[in-house]
Amino acid sequence: MRIVVLVSGSGSNLQSVIDASQAGDLPVEIAAVGSDNPDAYGLVRAGTAGIETFSVPLERGADAEQRADWNSRLRDAVLSYDPEVLVSSGFMRIVSAEFLDTLRRADGRAVPMINTHPALLPSFPGAHAVRDALAHGVKVTGCTVHQVDSGVDTGPILAQTPVEVRAEDDEATLHERIKTAERTLLNQVLAQIARNEHGLR
Ligand code: GRF
Repeated sequence: MRIVVLVSGSGSNLQSVIDASQAGDLPVEIAAVGSDNPDAYGLVRAGTAGIETFSVPLERGADAEQRADWNSRLRDAVLSYDPEVLVSSGFMRIVSAEFLDTLRRADGRAVPMINTHPALLPSFPGAHAVRDALAHGVKVTGCTVHQVDSGVDTGPILAQTPVEVRAEDDEATLHERIKTAERTLLNQVLAQIARNEHGLR
């Protein structure tokens, strides 16, 4: 299954997909890795693995027209690699409904987009999920892989893994344990999608 992966930062989840696919443990070919951030370390990880990279930066303070233009350019860049699935893995931007509606291969087939999120959705959507879960005092949180729709972390849930919150946890220690669970879950869901177990392809 041919995928494009989008990252904004470190790309440790991406690294686990790279490792599993290169080891032959995952029936996935990463056609390219893209980012909104040209300095994302995830792009370095991809380059080191011999994977093509691209970046489509979004200007600070972009207005609605500039955002629409950014969505179109990002969509065109993704589609130029002809993926069957688009994976948002630590990609910290929201794409538009238009982006999702027009994310289609040359033959018209829709390209599903999935995302990893460091909480048990629908609890704690948004960019500060780990901090918000800690602030709320939950004893169990976790991670979710879901299909992306035009809301913020609202698309259909594909799989989840619970992670216990420990008394001594701070945001960094809890996030690190969640990311360990996320890496396993993301690879499992990709394998399931490749076998068409979620009806996405
Ligand atoms: C992950 O927890 C992801 O869910 C969140 O940001 C983190 C990305 O980590 N949105 P990395 O870039 O894969 O290391």
